[in-house]
Amino acid sequence: MKLDVSHLTKTYDKKTILNDCSYVFDKTGTYVLMGPNGCGKSTFLRICAMLERQDSGDIAYFDNSTVLANDITLKRRLTLVLPRTGVFNTTVFKNVAYGLKIRGLHHTVIERKVNAALDFVGLGPKTGQHARTLSSGETQRLGIARALVLEPEVLFLDEPTASIDEENTQIIESIIGAMKKEGRSTIIMTTHDREQATRVGDFQLVMRNGRIET
Ligand SMILES: Nc1ncnc2c1ncn2[C@@H]1O[C@H](COP(=O)(O)OP(=O)(O)O)[C@@H](O)[C@H]1O
Ligand SMILES: [Mg+2]
Repeated sequence: MKLDVSHLTKTYDKKTILNDCSYVFDKTGTYVLMGPNGCGKSTFLRICAMLERQDSGDIAYFDNSTVLANDITLKRRLTLVLPRTGVFNTTVFKNVAYGLKIRGLHHTVIERKVNAALDFVGLGPKTGQHARTLSSGETQRLGIARALVLEPEVLFLDEPTASIDEENTQIIESIIGAMKKEGRSTIIMTTHDREQATRVGDFQLVMRNGRIET
């Protein structure tokens, strides 16, 4: 899938955050968007994930050269993981199963997919644990598993290791590397860690003055 962002603008309370921002995401691999706090990275991801509307400009997703309709089918091919994942007040397993359940999948399929996603992020031994009792690093991995299980074609990760300790940061970076190897999703993530951007990114982008520079 290709994402073509053209001439996006977004203003909050008369402050222009995105200002004629354009970029084409047309390669497989991991894009890393950097830039100072408050420059608009999260806003950009929310708009690209179609969770928020821009003031002007366009977001277009393409399959080969066909532009995709802006509907629930397209939205289900995109997933955004926030820096601090909120968890449902239940087990780790049920947290990850939720998105598949509402899509109406059979429980044996759900079980297989959820267990695979939890193994993938190293939470296999914690399936029955209450999600609220996980550490912050484990919670972040749970958030990633919950996104991965939906098999998104574009996975947006907003500061996936913000306020996460070094050990979990390494685990999350290796999860990002493994996802790339599997090649199922294009990953578009933000970070303010330049070294992380070099370690995990195939393409480094910087947001400045409301635009993306490469
Ligand atoms: N819903 C909102 N209402 C008002 N201001 C917002 C809203 N969302 C973001 N902002 C403001 O827009 C600016 C950019 O925020 P954000 O996209 O979160 O930046 P970044 O992720 O790069 O730190 C910030 O000044 C933030 O306070
Ligand atoms: Mg942000």
